[in-house]
Amino acid sequence: MRANALLSSLLLVPCLAAAQTTTAGSGNATTTTFAAQFTVPAAADEGALLLPNVFDPTAINAQIACPGYNASSVKTSSTGLTAHLTLAGTACNAYGTDIHDLNLTVEYQTDSRLHINIRPSNIASQNQSWYLLSTDYVPAPSQENGQMTTSDLTFSWSNSVKTGFGFNVTRNSTGDVLFSTTGTKLVFESQFIELVTQQEENYNLYGLGEVIHGLRLGNNLTRTIYAADSGDPIDYNIYGSHPFYLQTKYFEVGNGNSSTPVTQPLDTTNATGNYTSSSHGIYFRNAHGMEILMRPTNVTWRTLGGSIDLYFFSGPAQTDVTHQYLDVIGKPALQNYWGFGFHQCRWGYENWTVTENVVNNYAKFEIPLETIWNDIDYMFQYRDFDNDPIRFNYSDGTAFLNRLHSNGQHYVPIIDSAIYIPNPANASDAYSVFNSGNQTNSFLLNPDGSLYIGEVWPGYTVFPDWLAASAQTWWKNEMAAWIQKLPIDGAWIDMSEVSSFCVGSCGTYNLSLNPVHPGFLLPGEPGDVIYDYPEGFNITNATEAASASSASMAQADATSTATNTAAGTTSSTSTSYLRTTPTPGSRNVNHPPYVINNVQGDLAVHAVAPNATHHNGIQEYDVHNLFGHQILQATYAALAAAKPGLRPFIIGRSTFPGSGTVAGHWGGDNASKFYYMYFSIPQALSFSLFGIPMFGVDTCGFNSNSDEELCNRWMQLSAFFPFYRNHNVLSANSQEAYVWSSVIDATKTAMNVRFQLLPYIYTLFYNAHTSGDTVMRALAWEFPNDPSLADADRQFFLGPSILVTPVLTQGATSVDGVFPGLVEKTDVYYDWYNKTPVSVPSSKNTTIAAPLSHIPVYIRGGAILATQQMAMTTRDARNTSWSIIVAPGVNGTATGSLYLDDGESVQPNATKLVTMSAAMGSLNVTVSGSYTGLDLPLANITILGVTQAPPSNVVMINGDVVANSTYNATSKSLFIGGLEKALGGNVWGGNWTLS
Ligand SMILES: *[C@@H]1O[C@H](CO)[C@@H](O)[C@H](O)[C@H]1NC(C)=O
Ligand SMILES: *[C@@H]1O[C@H](CO)[C@@H](O)[C@H](O)[C@H]1NC(C)=O
Repeated sequence: MRANALLSSLLLVPCLAAAQTTTAGSGNATTTTFAAQFTVPAAADEGALLLPNVFDPTAINAQIACPGYNASSVKTSSTGLTAHLTLAGTACNAYGTDIHDLNLTVEYQTDSRLHINIRPSNIASQNQSWYLLSTDYVPAPSQENGQMTTSDLTFSWSNSVKTGFGFNVTRNSTGDVLFSTTGTKLVFESQFIELVTQQEENYNLYGLGEVIHGLRLGNNLTRTIYAADSGDPIDYNIYGSHPFYLQTKYFEVGNGNSSTPVTQPLDTTNATGNYTSSSHGIYFRNAHGMEILMRPTNVTWRTLGGSIDLYFFSGPAQTDVTHQYLDVIGKPALQNYWGFGFHQCRWGYENWTVTENVVNNYAKFEIPLETIWNDIDYMFQYRDFDNDPIRFNYSDGTAFLNRLHSNGQHYVPIIDSAIYIPNPANASDAYSVFNSGNQTNSFLLNPDGSLYIGEVWPGYTVFPDWLAASAQTWWKNEMAAWIQKLPIDGAWIDMSEVSSFCVGSCGTYNLSLNPVHPGFLLPGEPGDVIYDYPEGFNITNATEAASASSASMAQADATSTATNTAAGTTSSTSTSYLRTTPTPGSRNVNHPPYVINNVQGDLAVHAVAPNATHHNGIQEYDVHNLFGHQILQATYAALAAAKPGLRPFIIGRSTFPGSGTVAGHWGGDNASKFYYMYFSIPQALSFSLFGIPMFGVDTCGFNSNSDEELCNRWMQLSAFFPFYRNHNVLSANSQEAYVWSSVIDATKTAMNVRFQLLPYIYTLFYNAHTSGDTVMRALAWEFPNDPSLADADRQFFLGPSILVTPVLTQGATSVDGVFPGLVEKTDVYYDWYNKTPVSVPSSKNTTIAAPLSHIPVYIRGGAILATQQMAMTTRDARNTSWSIIVAPGVNGTATGSLYLDDGESVQPNATKLVTMSAAMGSLNVTVSGSYTGLDLPLANITILGVTQAPPSNVVMINGDVVANSTYNATSKSLFIGGLEKALGGNVWGGNWTLS
């Protein structure tokens, strides 16, 4: 979490801090001791005033200024080619020092994967540090067996007179050019690499996260990739770094011009109405600060270092692209079954009693609760692995967690990325977690070898150096020791961008002030002005309006006071931006000549500075985007060691390609607004593409006050996200599901569906883990030949078979949605709640009734779902009898599968795989594997879309009469109940056939 920076910046710091601002920050301030806590001045988190290059009208255009390269010494081999690239003219040194000689390596790695790498020929002779992303940190698969592949991709190159070396990647089967730098110049400098690629009109790109934006990125967006602690601003760089895009091209079939992609918006004049599509993917394996400029006719990649390291995936469907990408970065972890239960969290559960009361309230209102979470409240002065001895002591905590565990419930606490460094002048401030890390050289350094000391919640802090093996060991030991004291069930990793509330090593001369207070007010602290009214706040209500207007006047006063004061103390109001110029032979890592459009401005603001140095000499500049990924890996190893054999449950904030192999992700610090509820869908779908399917957002909203209507809609929507957690900021109004009666009902209704679908969701994760399949899916991926779905992101599929069409706007009682394939008669859908087939609408867009507390959910025909029932926990749900829903497709058949295991072992000693198929009045179930833990009775079977009552209502299993069926003419469904005794009371005991 992060305090509202906008809010705090408007306010004066408390008097103590105000009195000390002149000596703090870079000052020494070692002679004064304060009884009260010292507040770091807000100015400590202000960086240089920078103008992002993309907004700078005077910026050098490297395409004009730079000479490009020429290729020579081209050598082809059975698996690709190598070449030498030489600067084609006078160095431009636009945003760094031009590299004269480059190596080009092209490798056809598999039938579907092409790798292109361009790097300096002789790194040592560049006479400057040069960092190529190590395969120790991020895998870089190469050609496996030296065999020529039958790739659908072809690399071709040319030297043009005007622009020099350029290359194309072409899809052989269609002749379509997927990537073309031809006609543009390659720029390769010490701190700036540029690659310009041509694009067709209105191209469809997806991915390039992490960003709060619609699913389809459009052609007017600068995507900065630089991990930042920033509360979900729209279109900016935020927590994660995912330099991967999926591109989909749609082609019209049968109009004689099918090699030209059709563009959005679709022109249906003279169109055949028949389309196909092909998709490909590109992964730019680079951890430097980066920008991708999406413009109408081209896409430009710019990065602040490293190499051009491009992996192309030929698809040709999105599913293929995702499989191919995850083959490179790693497939998602198999989650614990309990992880799919409902999670409640907030910043502000101030002690064990308050925390347990929340658990008790869920029980009282009979709302399922799987896991209770604590934010930083539980820590002793915000220190990792150290509980507050009064409010969150270990003995009461252990007793509480034991009660949770015996109820089948779980506990997950937050763990921060920074480590408090104790005050050397105060012996009672000792902190052994710091000492053991310091003794093992586990923390980041300043360039001079001293400790880098930034500032986070506890005060001045140090930061783990994940590139050092010792830090991994230290983290593992400290976490294990803490788990000995408190039997937690998982870890929530925060602040991992890595966040620091001041610029540079601000604590270096100020340690005797520790612990210090951040330079902003925490929500609700004295002086903080709460003016975030709930989303549904009724301005026409006289009482509410009166209190609102007096509050906003107070706010205006506070704002103007702060502004006046700032104006009075600021020496200059000019826009004299800091501009740096390249110096041959050296890099300026803190202020690179090229200024990316970082949400925080200066790279060192609200983050550990780029010149922080790892023990192996690598600068943070070169690996900044990896911190969040590496703390997740370290935490995975630590939990695996502390709880041998059990799957570590981890939710992390900052992620990188591959993070899904160890953790899930939550969407960060959103706000209680309807539009953030909408953005949760494209954010989730993007993380599907990034191989992190365990995704969910702060349900009901984090910052600001939620309200009944928003929370009602959101508790229902998030019930269909893999990670389902309600979380709230300190001091905001309570928003647990039991706070409003309509939300209680809405939550139970949606949870009822979720619980029935848990075996299906778990099977989807098994498929993700084993095959790289996605869990939440865009409509466009399930219907790749429908270009009208290219930007659909207000609905989604959960797996292939569940369509969710939520209400995302305030005050609505209906929602417009599509049923892909329904008008075209390739697909049928059944209403989840009343089981009735959806009738074919006259147009694609359909208005669906959705009164408050109803979330439209549909089963797509062709599916067989094995379901269980809702219970207060997933443990109890797993002990309920089974049901089977058969939802035939247009051709009357359906299939389904089910994966079963103990739900928690890394290597289950027994598993079971069930496949189900239905056709022509019979249902076949095939069982393989020996896991018996879910061998329970079958309660009933519901067959949907039965147009008329069958001639006989006798139901037989394996030839024996077991029950009668009941036909419902209204819903056109056939219900077969009373099956508990059939199959010996064990539905998955062996193969069976029902007729
Ligand atoms: C404050 O610390 C800096 C850095 O060590 C040092 O250069 C400077 O002399 C110190 N100033 C005082 C007044 O001690
Ligand atoms: C570049 O290619 C040359 C010639 O093949 C080789 O000797 C050199 O090691 C390569 N440099 C790098 C950094 O890979």
